Amino acid sequence: MAIFFDPCAKIFTIETKNTAYQMKIDKYGYLLHLYYGEKIKQNMDYLLSFLDRGFSGNPAEEAENRTYSLDVLPQEYPYWGSGDYRNVALWTENPDKTIASSLVYDSHEICSGKYRLNRLPSAYAEDTEADTLKIVLRDTVNGMKVTLYYGVFAAKDVITKSVTITNAGEAELIVRKAASSVLDFIGGDFDLVHFQGRHAMERNLERLPVKHTSMVIGSRRGTSSHQHNPGMLLCEPSATEKSGSVYGALLSYSGGFTAEVEKDQFDQTRMVLGISDELLAYPLQPGESLELPECIHAYSSLGFGKLSRIYHDFIRDHVLPPKSKTMKRPVLLNSWEASYFDFTGDTIVALAKEAAELGIDLLVMDDGWFGKRDDDNSGLGDWQVNEQKLGCTLGKMIEKINALGIDFGIWVEPEMISEDSDLYRAHPDWALQVPGRSPIRSRNQLVLDLSRADVREEIYTQICSVLDQGNITYLKWDMNRSLADIASAVNLPGKILYDYMTGLYDFLGRLQKSYPDLLIEGCSGGGGRFDTGMMAYTPQIWCSDNTDALDRLRIQYGTSFFYPVSTVGSHVSAVPNHQTGRITPFEVRGLVAMAGTFGYELNPALLSEEEKQQVREQIGTYKELQPLIFSGDYYRLSDPFRDSFAAWNIVSKDKKECLLTAVILENHANMAVNYVKAAGLNPELIYEDQNGNKYQGAALMQGGIPIVPAMKDLAAYQFRFRACES
Ligand code: GLA
Repeated sequence: MAIFFDPCAKIFTIETKNTAYQMKIDKYGYLLHLYYGEKIKQNMDYLLSFLDRGFSGNPAEEAENRTYSLDVLPQEYPYWGSGDYRNVALWTENPDKTIASSLVYDSHEICSGKYRLNRLPSAYAEDTEADTLKIVLRDTVNGMKVTLYYGVFAAKDVITKSVTITNAGEAELIVRKAASSVLDFIGGDFDLVHFQGRHAMERNLERLPVKHTSMVIGSRRGTSSHQHNPGMLLCEPSATEKSGSVYGALLSYSGGFTAEVEKDQFDQTRMVLGISDELLAYPLQPGESLELPECIHAYSSLGFGKLSRIYHDFIRDHVLPPKSKTMKRPVLLNSWEASYFDFTGDTIVALAKEAAELGIDLLVMDDGWFGKRDDDNSGLGDWQVNEQKLGCTLGKMIEKINALGIDFGIWVEPEMISEDSDLYRAHPDWALQVPGRSPIRSRNQLVLDLSRADVREEIYTQICSVLDQGNITYLKWDMNRSLADIASAVNLPGKILYDYMTGLYDFLGRLQKSYPDLLIEGCSGGGGRFDTGMMAYTPQIWCSDNTDALDRLRIQYGTSFFYPVSTVGSHVSAVPNHQTGRITPFEVRGLVAMAGTFGYELNPALLSEEEKQQVREQIGTYKELQPLIFSGDYYRLSDPFRDSFAAWNIVSKDKKECLLTAVILENHANMAVNYVKAAGLNPELIYEDQNGNKYQGAALMQGGIPIVPAMKDLAAYQFRFRACES
């Protein structure tokens, strides 16, 4: 058991292999946070200081004694109403409209196995792999209960947290803010590292010193968003890839979120992470509960690289759908950049034929096959196959494709509705729209009210009837706009965003149960919903609509801080690139896409014979390497935003195999030689590369491997090292 309660000191200690986490029930029942970090074996309450601080109020129990204030003490789940003026986790509106709570310890439970959430995705484990601590806090006035859940994955060095708010009183309560996790630090200087971006340029790393201000990142778009990823790192200012303390917090939620970090008046740092509280006003009737998304925490004393590898292992083993671990991850050809909306059944079959000849496993028919959909202005919501456009039934077309020896996948965007659609004409009230106001259109489409079960039911039936028409082994689930009109014909505005998201998870969960062998790839204009909420259903996500190799190096670099390579949808596309106009060498596009799920996004008929041969070779190499790429330990070897080259290596768990990739980002005349230092190898072992050259592991890590400039832009290098006898 990794969870201990000391009844005399009233201290909870959670232990993982290398970390410890401590909380204390103080003399009045308030739950204080004591410690999170490298493993310690002692009660840390000696760290608490009690001083008379001006303008920091004292709870009633301390009327005479001014040295106790919740404005100053580190807390586990701070709330408005306690005299704490920092960012808090909880705001609840009482029946009399006041906003105040007073939470004290009520009870706790420790058990083996991992708690699961009901309406939201949550990490899973065998009973022997994780333990659960459940602490119930009770409001002393209105009966509200706040249950704090801790999932302890000791061997993985991960602690998950979630919270459930229950109205155990007798009148309605309204939840206005409810975060999933708070981390209070009584000292220390931190940098905040977060991942910002935009459509087609997601997850750029930004590092900012934490100062005496509240830094807020988040999304009010109803999706986790291209603009900010729902994860953040707090590190000591000197932390690097290989050294220093780093704390990670990653929210398993695909909707709007808020992440706050602030240094308070006494230089203490607080981090708060949870669903977005803007537009939240969630009423709870007596007996009702609100479940909050899971936050995944990890700590590394060995820098960012180690922290990333903790997250990668954890996501692969405990977040992605269990089936996806054994499911074939096909090399695919997607029709989007090959033909956009301009295709027929025959051209799709022709693409499949070309694909089959090159050794590709699966052909994806992207947008444009349903309803009236020859451009992106109409048809969403009408998930009936356009047999006129295909020239046959979907089933017939799939048969032709399967007969070529390859599988078939299809694109859908089930959360959307076009005003020019039969669905909208029949049910205009199914779209989220503010009555009496013009809708905000984006890509000329509106968003379906997925918070409604009847709307979900209709779309679910439609999507299933498509999937039932033939042998469909892959589904690309897309979502191409942000939510704007937060009003529903039947639901309360303050509930819509949360209920939309739980509705989406419900839909995806049903689909997963009904079609257990279907591989679902997530997408939201590329990586607009690249999060562990979606990953519970979609083990791979189209990382970005940007397929330019140079940009992708940077996008995939930022993505790698939390997410394993097996989740990163990555394809080789045509040049000039459709997003940047840049021309990059074919082999570079291949090597960059190999740091992902690998596939093609082009028309093979337009390739030269030489390029076709390269495709065959790339697929051969990738298939051989996929087990290593998907399960190995990932090491970043450069920062492609700062360094003149991008490089990474992936090492098998037994350290006998290593794939090292390097790309020189810009060519200059008479350039210096770069030396890329491998990481994660066994220093004692001798490794042989694909050309028979032998190196000691220590030599590759200390001296590196020379990357000799070549007479071309974006020269790329791939080394495959295998441990050998001597
Ligand atoms: C989004 C996706 C693309 C493609 C188009 C189709 O932009 O990210 O990959 O599927 O939609 O409309």
